[in-house]
Amino acid sequence: MASSAQMAAAAGAATRALSEFCSDVVMGLSHPGQKELPSKYLYDALGSALFDAICLLPEYGLSRAGMRLLERHACEIVERVPGPVVVAELGSGNGQKTRYLLEALARRQRVNYYPIDISGSALFRCQQELGQMEMVSLVGFESAYLDGLHKVAARRREGERLLVLFLGSTIGNFDRSAGDQFLCDVRAILREGDSLLLATDLEKPVPMLKLAYDDPPGVTAAFNKNILARINMELGGEFDLGQFEHVVRYDEIERRIEMHLRSKAWQSVAIRKAGFRLYLREGETIWTESSHKYDPQEVKRMGGRAGFDSAGQWIDIEWPFAQTLFLAI
Ligand code: AVJ
Repeated sequence: MASSAQMAAAAGAATRALSEFCSDVVMGLSHPGQKELPSKYLYDALGSALFDAICLLPEYGLSRAGMRLLERHACEIVERVPGPVVVAELGSGNGQKTRYLLEALARRQRVNYYPIDISGSALFRCQQELGQMEMVSLVGFESAYLDGLHKVAARRREGERLLVLFLGSTIGNFDRSAGDQFLCDVRAILREGDSLLLATDLEKPVPMLKLAYDDPPGVTAAFNKNILARINMELGGEFDLGQFEHVVRYDEIERRIEMHLRSKAWQSVAIRKAGFRLYLREGETIWTESSHKYDPQEVKRMGGRAGFDSAGQWIDIEWPFAQTLFLAI
């Protein structure tokens, strides 16, 4: 049973998380120009389930492409990783993709695998999926990516190298400059000879992208609108989801898909626990996500700027997508 000190600590963490959500929402919605909400808040329990459903859509080939690449090339990828390694994964997801890599690694060594995720339920699912593998011991870290990576790095023993997995193509949610910064931050925690496997979605015909993010059955629309339902539930918001429309745009200059929620009418919405009132014009949008698309060479250059050499790149043709292996230099 949890002690009262543990319970108080957990309650404290939950309160901090809620107040951060609250201040991020107020800040994003009071932007003078384009109003926005950070995409990380799309993933509450329902949002995560809706994202899993998105991955089953025939129009959304992204996660299947990432999976195919690892299924086909895990052995070759692992051969190019100098070992022995401990494995840290940023965003544990449901663990399916990682299995191919862990299996390939476990043929040559015992593997300590450390999934890092801010979502306890994602870690739980990962543990269900991968916790029983032979030759693999799993310890999850419920924390932000870089914090977790620091903790994993601190645990490594003499002579062990680190292999960092960033497989969700979540880097695409960062602006290009923030993506660069993120890779630099990761590199700063690593030592020479450590490696990073980075998944990125590649540029592809715009109609293909639009359908992937605005699917006919409306799963992505539900995923997008759910962020308003979450604000209603957790922050006492009074959004009427029927007053919003899911809109997808491709920005040719930034080379990214954007998701927005467009107000169907002039409206004002109270968010009670924040003591905040939002005003929207008819047609005004709230920007909820960017998903940047890359050129394969550009990905290698990004790694180069952060202090990595590229040690291999594997590309899916059916749904242009890349896994790039980097070595810290
Ligand atoms: C989980 C960030 C890779 O950008 O494609 C899916 C999220 N958004 N459909 C992506 C998402 C709309 C997804 N990532």
